Amino acid sequence: MKECTILVTGGAGYIGSHTVIELLNNNCQVIIVDDLSNSNKKVLDRIEKITGVHPIFYPISICDKDALSLIFTTHKINAVIHFAAFKAVGESVQKPLDYYKNNVSGCLLLLQIMQEYSVKTIVFSSSATVYGQPKEVPVKENSKISPQSPYGFTKMMIEQILTDIYHADKSWNIAILRYFNPVGAHRSGLIGENPNGIPNNLMPYIAQVATGKLDYLQIFGNDYITKDGTGVRDYIHVVDLAIGHIKALKYFDFKSKVGQMITLNLGTGIGCSVLDVVKTFEKASGKSIPYKILPRRSGDVAEYYADATLAKQVLGFQTRFNLDDMCCDTWRWQINNPEGY
Ligand code: UFG
Repeated sequence: MKECTILVTGGAGYIGSHTVIELLNNNCQVIIVDDLSNSNKKVLDRIEKITGVHPIFYPISICDKDALSLIFTTHKINAVIHFAAFKAVGESVQKPLDYYKNNVSGCLLLLQIMQEYSVKTIVFSSSATVYGQPKEVPVKENSKISPQSPYGFTKMMIEQILTDIYHADKSWNIAILRYFNPVGAHRSGLIGENPNGIPNNLMPYIAQVATGKLDYLQIFGNDYITKDGTGVRDYIHVVDLAIGHIKALKYFDFKSKVGQMITLNLGTGIGCSVLDVVKTFEKASGKSIPYKILPRRSGDVAEYYADATLAKQVLGFQTRFNLDDMCCDTWRWQINNPEGY
């Protein structure tokens, strides 16, 4: 990976910033493009504290074609990791046009520019949300794709666009990575998830209950057909997830004229219930997490977790961190940064 220059869109965000650190640890030069709509510039100083390198940063939107083109003119980019996207499922139902414009049109612009500059290697941040209500668990990559929200459809559409690009020109290298539930934070406690307002997702919500910022956790349903009645998910440590991106890049042979396309789940393969997460977080933090049981949240699935065997076979990818690590690292980030960045 030495002497590789990687453009990371959305590189100041939660998963993006953790991936930038792993790229820098692998001696890559990193260029971040991020419009800071859901991230904070301070993350760049934190990255420098951790790695000793202040990445090159352009505060622009991927929808700004001229500004994006200029970056490709200025730097010799070898590959792109594309994170920049809106990501709130509920909001996507309210504002579908914003989601299709930012996520799909933005990605199309990026791909056009990549083609123009003959940069034909991309790692795309997809989501297990493309599976919708899975017929069976663990979920395999060849399971039926059936998103349930505009957000999920944006991921599905981009996957299709990438597939068509590859079919038309086999010199592209394309990795589609379908994330399960990313949680946790960098072990330094310097970077982590920084949601705007009241968190939608389980782990950041629990973390704010533990500090007393929120009174109690609302558990959405305890009558699912799961081991304890609460929803089961495949939580993956964000640092493991970040390493998955490095492995995907390393999989590609940049010198070959022939490209490759891979679509892989990134998960642990282990399902944990909401109550498992609550108990593990209580142990990690030494705080009690009061909760109330509410009705099911609309659109939620009872249970899903990854079949993680393909990523292991293809990339040698295996997660290193367990739920204890995910809770400990989230807690360290939360107490060090009670108000976020
Ligand atoms: N949950 C609660 N209370 C909360 C929040 C969540 O009980 O306050 C429960 C949910 O009902 C679910 C589990 O915790 O059973 C996990 O919920 P999250 O909101 O943390 O995550 P989701 O699985 O709903 O969705 C996440 C991301 C999506 C992504 C999807 C992909 O938010 O963007 O994983 O797998 F698409």
